[in-house]
Amino acid sequence: MSRADAARSVTVRVPAKVNVQLAVGAARPDGFHDLANVFLAVSLYDEVTVTPADELTVTCAGPDADQVPLDRTNLVARAAETLAARSGLPAPAVHIHIAKNIPVAGGMAGGSADGAGALVACDALWGLDTPAAELLDMCAELGSDVPFSLVGGAALGTGRGEILTPVEAGAFHWVFAVADGGLSTPAVFREFDRLAQGREIPAPEASPALLAALASGDPEALAATLVNDLQPAALSLRPGLAEALAAGTDAGALAALVSGSGPTTAFLVRDAASAAKVASALEASGLCRATRTATSPAPGATLL
Ligand code: C5P
Repeated sequence: MSRADAARSVTVRVPAKVNVQLAVGAARPDGFHDLANVFLAVSLYDEVTVTPADELTVTCAGPDADQVPLDRTNLVARAAETLAARSGLPAPAVHIHIAKNIPVAGGMAGGSADGAGALVACDALWGLDTPAAELLDMCAELGSDVPFSLVGGAALGTGRGEILTPVEAGAFHWVFAVADGGLSTPAVFREFDRLAQGREIPAPEASPALLAALASGDPEALAATLVNDLQPAALSLRPGLAEALAAGTDAGALAALVSGSGPTTAFLVRDAASAAKVASALEASGLCRATRTATSPAPGATLL
């Protein structure tokens, strides 16, 4: 990279998410599921840097970098291609580097976050100033969780999760236990369908008690209302996760749940001191590969 190109680099920071409520409806004709998905952005971040180059290339660094695809299937590449095509530009010639800290294929929307980051970074690099509504539209095309990665904070996602309504959220502390290996989101939804066979599935609705607890900032109240309809499916595919959930609550977490489609497990704790205690107990248990502590809410995609 020449010094002039380096000077033209743009870096965007993007947050991970946890779903404090994930209510899942029946499979739709298009294969997706209607959701009432209460997203909360947490202070675990990836950074996406774009730099002019001869052609579109993707690199990644970080603890899980070897698990990240570097070809055109990576959402960062698809984001750059989508933005260029929609803006009437030629095929994008950028180098996209992901500094990865969010667990890969972990149910924390790390890939979606990178996609949103690449979109915002390329928009700035190319001086497009694309209106926010159009960026959100492109995010929805890239994936159901990508619009939330762009806006961050706390929001209710309906439809397949892409239709967002901001919700109020106080501050909360979290611990995340990173499991060995990932879980495929489509596979977890398929397992949800299998487990639901022969059962009437109600239309998903946001829980008023959960939204009130989220707004109050009271961790005990939020702990009593956390719910993830994908959890039985994730546990069915990875029964060992139940032990990690129990280890966290035994160590003092107020509540434990699978994050999104898993296999990362999320622990709501009272404060930073409790977060440190629960994280070290989980690490000592040998039931996870690593832990991360974080707070919520966190901002969405941010130009650095
Ligand atoms: O939207 P995204 O590409 O991230 O979704 C990945 C997969 O997860 C989908 O192909 C689908 O199998 C499943 N999914 C779903 N219902 C949703 C969101 C995702 O069934 N609301």
